[in-house]
Amino acid sequence: MFDRDHFIEDCIKAVSGGQEPIREVVAAALSDSAGMMSELGEPQHAGITPIYRANDLTIINFVWAPCMSLMPHNHQMFAVVGVYSGREDNVFWRRKATTIEAAGAQSLGAGDIATLGRDVIHSVLNPIGKMTCAVHVYGGDFFDPEEPRSEWDHETLIERPWNVDEVKSLFREAEERFSATKNKSPGGNPPGL
Ligand SMILES: [Fe+2]
Repeated sequence: MFDRDHFIEDCIKAVSGGQEPIREVVAAALSDSAGMMSELGEPQHAGITPIYRANDLTIINFVWAPCMSLMPHNHQMFAVVGVYSGREDNVFWRRKATTIEAAGAQSLGAGDIATLGRDVIHSVLNPIGKMTCAVHVYGGDFFDPEEPRSEWDHETLIERPWNVDEVKSLFREAEERFSATKNKSPGGNPPGL
């Protein structure tokens, strides 16, 4: 059975061993994805909610809004992603002169894990019409990385500094956009008309 506090303790114990022991902890948690949902809570809003934060470890509960995408970015620390509900489509990118090019992809459904090395660049899409929920475990302080982090413009693929406040806004805007679409009548009229 998944237990949030035990999961945090297990990650704290595992992180000094690096990415593989963390992957094993996340894999064990995912064997009870229904328990993860009940312990972490049915998603009410899209967003990134830290459930543990230290210099060497951050655990975040990610709730992706329906059909939202997040531009390519790096982390400057290893990451283990475990999806417990919905779907996360990852595109992996590699640097090419002044821009980046797509180099691979991994689609994660409930129970699936992705392991990302510290230099990996990825973008994420929730391709379905409901929230997607995942735990992301990072081998460092996600919110204050030792090395500056980058993101790449979705359209031009030009690199720029990563900004966590912009990322949080993206989650809010994606949820608002989805809610606005959901509330529209099929004819495109505002609700109530
Ligand atoms: Fe990421």
